[in-house]
Amino acid sequence: MIVILLGPPGVGKGTQGALLAEGLGYTHLSTGDLLRQARREGTPLGREAQGYMDRGELVPDEVIVGMVREALGALGGKVILDGFPRTVGQAEALDEVLAEMGAAVDRVVLLEADDQVLLQRLSGRRSCPDCGAVYNVHFNPPREAGRCDRCGGTLVHRSDDHPETVANRLEVYRTQTEPLVAYYRRRPELVTAVAAERPVAEIQAELRRLLAG
Ligand code: AP5
Repeated sequence: MIVILLGPPGVGKGTQGALLAEGLGYTHLSTGDLLRQARREGTPLGREAQGYMDRGELVPDEVIVGMVREALGALGGKVILDGFPRTVGQAEALDEVLAEMGAAVDRVVLLEADDQVLLQRLSGRRSCPDCGAVYNVHFNPPREAGRCDRCGGTLVHRSDDHPETVANRLEVYRTQTEPLVAYYRRRPELVTAVAAERPVAEIQAELRRLLAG
């Protein structure tokens, strides 16, 4: 079962993907997380991705598709794709990679929220670089400011969550990623839009109903 979580920066793809992994046994595959890990480890991929990510631009398709092909090859069963595909070229490549594996995209969940909500969520996001936990100073603060509840790590404000970069990421989403909605709506049974301006638990309950059905 291959599920794509599609939606703009800050809409909650990572938050919902992690909960689906915990609750329904999906593997949560986030291209943003894979790239950030490569940056921390200083690999050639990480060094190549760094400039694009800091400017809020997309990393070139061929780099991303190679990375996802490798990751998917090591997985099986139920996978949540978060942050991939992000261009029509990536979606076409994904269809090809899955066809080679005898699989296909089963569902596309389009998470939707207004830009004002996205801006507030991104400005308040704090992440743990050690265990990947995500908090929000407005909506889901850690028990102790700046410290991860789960592992005690020091929380950081992602370098691409600063206002100028966020504005560019939203623009890149509108111009390069939103056309994917039309791409997948050619197979209308695939796509379900979910309102994401609601509490995390409410959205998660709707996703679990959807993916169980
Ligand atoms: P990536 O890491 O994928 O970033 P993104 O898509 O911009 O998404 P975000 O991680 O910012 O947001 P999210 O939707 O996961 O929200 P979250 O759950 O964290 O990509 C980063 C960069 O890597 C890209 O700009 C690009 O350079 C590169 N890249 C990655 N994939 C690529 C690809 N396929 N092709 C090319 N380049 C690629 O939530 C946000 C905040 O809101 C959190 O604080 C959270 O606690 C809070 N929150 C979540 N839900 C709610 C809620 N319901 N109510 C209140 N608060 C909430």
